[in-house]
Amino acid sequence: MSQSLTLPRPDDWHLHLRDGAMLEGIAPESARHFARAIIMPNLVPPVVTGAEAAAYRDRILAVTGTGFTPLMTLYLTEATDPADVVAAHRDGIITAVKLYPAGATTNSASGVVDFDKVRDVLEAMAEHGIPLLCHGEVTDPAIDIFDREAVFIDRVLEPIRRKTPYLRIVMEHITTSDAVAYVQSQPENLGATITTHHLVINRNHILVGGIRPHYYCLPVAKRERHRQALVQAATSGDARFFLGTDSAPHADAAKETACGCAGCFTATNTLSILAHVFEQAGALDKLEGFAARNGPGFYRLPVNEDRITLVRSDSPVVYPDKIETGAGPVTVFDPGFPLYWRVAG
Ligand code: DOR
Ligand code: ZN
Repeated sequence: MSQSLTLPRPDDWHLHLRDGAMLEGIAPESARHFARAIIMPNLVPPVVTGAEAAAYRDRILAVTGTGFTPLMTLYLTEATDPADVVAAHRDGIITAVKLYPAGATTNSASGVVDFDKVRDVLEAMAEHGIPLLCHGEVTDPAIDIFDREAVFIDRVLEPIRRKTPYLRIVMEHITTSDAVAYVQSQPENLGATITTHHLVINRNHILVGGIRPHYYCLPVAKRERHRQALVQAATSGDARFFLGTDSAPHADAAKETACGCAGCFTATNTLSILAHVFEQAGALDKLEGFAARNGPGFYRLPVNEDRITLVRSDSPVVYPDKIETGAGPVTVFDPGFPLYWRVAG
């Protein structure tokens, strides 16, 4: 007998949709299963003003149609105008602001170097209840890449929280037990997204038996004990942890090269993978909270009324290896095991 699970339609609280031919090719992969998504602003050039966010939102809607709601973000720079942020939020154009330490990841050159220079923006955001979404890695070349998240908590996040305790913050795509413990230690105005791929891979998957460019992302996957801490957090029912896939498409040519881009593309099979992970953890009943309830709770938005059903089959689900786009083929994340859960319909 096939097993099934019905839940409110999920949202993706951290998504890269890009622009142009890539947007056209990959946005339907998210719109098929998700109702809403927080859209990352790291285009080239980045989305820094309310007017740019509104124009980008319209380009997304032109591809997805109105059945999908892009929740826009601004890319915080040292020149960001607090009044523009507040106005864009008041007018319903943006939902949040994204902080990239300069140089931390793909297209982050315009990010923040001196955190004191964005104090006025952070104060205004705290006052108006606008969440700050942090790419939680320091960029100090002296810090080992596997330690950059833990050091970010001490050097950047904790000082921001001390100076602006009422600012609502999401620590994005957490990868360590340190981040899990930090979030658990804080009041509920600090949340964290967890990606699909960080629930599945550890750093061995990237490096053992040959280098696997499609498993390379930032923050880079850590040791197995960290992956286990993430699974524990995601399946615990703690409302501070919610799904942000960080699905981040790059054309294969940009991944399979001497200096490959960071990003795993999981939009296509995320819900199948999550059902598998939660089932393995004996926590299928917690998937609804993680994928459909905790995020809206943090963002103070209603849970979607529409519902989806996941069905478990006896034979593995077939999904495409690659999505063909006008910007080149994009490899779909391979979890390394067969998937049995699929979204019905
Ligand atoms: O792996 C990643 N890819 N991490 C990020 O923070 C950015 C993203 C991208 O834009 O490709
Ligand atoms: Zn991202």
